[in-house]
Amino acid sequence: MTTLTSVMESADAVALTLCGVVLLASLAVWSMSRPRGFPPGPLGVPILGSVFSMTASPEEIFVRWSKQYGDVFGFKVGQRMIVVINHQDAIREALLKHGIEFAGRPDFFSFGVFTYGFKDIIFSSYSDTWKLHHKFAHSALRQFASGKRLEHLLHGSIAKMEGYLSKMDDSEPVDPKLVITLLLYNVMSTMCFGKDYDFLDENLIAWKENNEKLNQEFGMGVAADFFGWAQYLPTPGVKMVHRMRDELHRFVWDELDSHKKNFDPDNVRDVFDMLLLAQKEAADSGNQDAEKLSDTHLVLTVSNMFAAGIQTTTETLYWALAFMVEHRDIQSRCQAEIDRAIGRKRVPVVDDRGSLPYTEATLYEVMRYSSILPIAVPHATTCDVNFRGYRIPKGAVVMFNTYSMHYDPNAWESPTSFKPEHFLEDDGSVQQHPSSFLPFGAGRRSCLGEVAAKTDLIIIFTWLLQNYCFKTVPGKETTSLLRVIENSAVGRNLENYELIMEMRK
Ligand code: HEM
Repeated sequence: MTTLTSVMESADAVALTLCGVVLLASLAVWSMSRPRGFPPGPLGVPILGSVFSMTASPEEIFVRWSKQYGDVFGFKVGQRMIVVINHQDAIREALLKHGIEFAGRPDFFSFGVFTYGFKDIIFSSYSDTWKLHHKFAHSALRQFASGKRLEHLLHGSIAKMEGYLSKMDDSEPVDPKLVITLLLYNVMSTMCFGKDYDFLDENLIAWKENNEKLNQEFGMGVAADFFGWAQYLPTPGVKMVHRMRDELHRFVWDELDSHKKNFDPDNVRDVFDMLLLAQKEAADSGNQDAEKLSDTHLVLTVSNMFAAGIQTTTETLYWALAFMVEHRDIQSRCQAEIDRAIGRKRVPVVDDRGSLPYTEATLYEVMRYSSILPIAVPHATTCDVNFRGYRIPKGAVVMFNTYSMHYDPNAWESPTSFKPEHFLEDDGSVQQHPSSFLPFGAGRRSCLGEVAAKTDLIIIFTWLLQNYCFKTVPGKETTSLLRVIENSAVGRNLENYELIMEMRK
């Protein structure tokens, strides 16, 4: 009897083990399967997919894979299907000819938390609510951040920065990131909140620090974006996104409260007032837009402008100054051009752009070389898409590897060298739109702030070179300033550095 029971028990154990093995094997096979017609690509490992390939610099790995699998390839990370599109022809075709099909955003866990359930512009998928806020943000930028109005904002903030810099000892090493960031915070806050902040306003500094903390903590991203079940685990990533969301938006919520108290529909002073007016009009007329214009939507639209506008412009200028230190000959050529076109006495204006071709080409070359957002912001398919003979299912994550355009040896004379001439025609004029250059994206989800960003960059960069020489810190001549932070999903940002910012005689 005992023998019979133990035989039966061991048979049960074997059966259970077998079931477990079959289940795991099926799960492994299922996890590696792809829908019919899905683009080819690396298989990765069962369950996890290609997660281990997503180490530092995915954009460089993608360029390598595009040589193996072609311009369009796909793979899985956890449950997510990811498609990467490389090089100018395929990227432009997807963004311009299949605009709406590729205009979604992934429903990542972190995006959803940061945006109180996708109520913003940057991370929300293509929808009527997105269209409405996109339209408002577009007209807000046109009304408050273009032409003479933006020039006026920039001049006000530059004057504050000048006052701050004039008190510093210009022979001491300085990290220029603080002044550039504060300058841009000032411009953006004046535009959105209509307030004239001190250059070192403590709220702006606290907000800047929160943004930096978020970037550091975000690192390579959050596992729960790829492995849905991970959002229910109390991991540091999951806790971080909840905590950072509240810290990041608090300042904008405070501004909303104070705007509501002083709101006068006949006197629209800034972007927040403009959004409040839209909210009021929708509520008064009882139309269906009212629910799309909740306070949360308004706060996130303004928060987006800060998040999208300040960090990108700051990083571009940070790279630009590092290049000026590493390429003193280019710095001198820009300064000679600025001295000839503007002189030293007046602040640069928007209309100077046309007479600064070398300086403008230098900035474009900074954008190409730095490629600060090498795979832009991830897109997603809004429906099943047939593209170049492949079938990409609805909801797949789509990454546009613009880095592959910016470093394409077939498109640039010497892509790994820093050469403003890449953007100059033979007659010395600037090539505004080379075909393999897309720092602001294209199509439906292209950057809303492209025009404003170009004005910010040329005026600030020109002013800095007009008034200062950027030099290496003595004793640190052999340390390059162009060190890209590794393991960052946020973009190709430089490690913090110091330089000498010497006032020009
Ligand atoms: C050098 C500066 C800048 C660069 C390189 C840059 C680049 C980009 C890129 C690559 C995207 C994503 C495109 C895509 O998803 O395909 C983007 C989106 C966006 N940018 Fe910029 N940007 C800059 C400055 C600004 C400024 C100054 C603002 C506003 C004040 C702004 C507002 C936005 C917004 C709202 C989006 C989201 C658009 C959407 O999801 O539909 N950006 N930007």
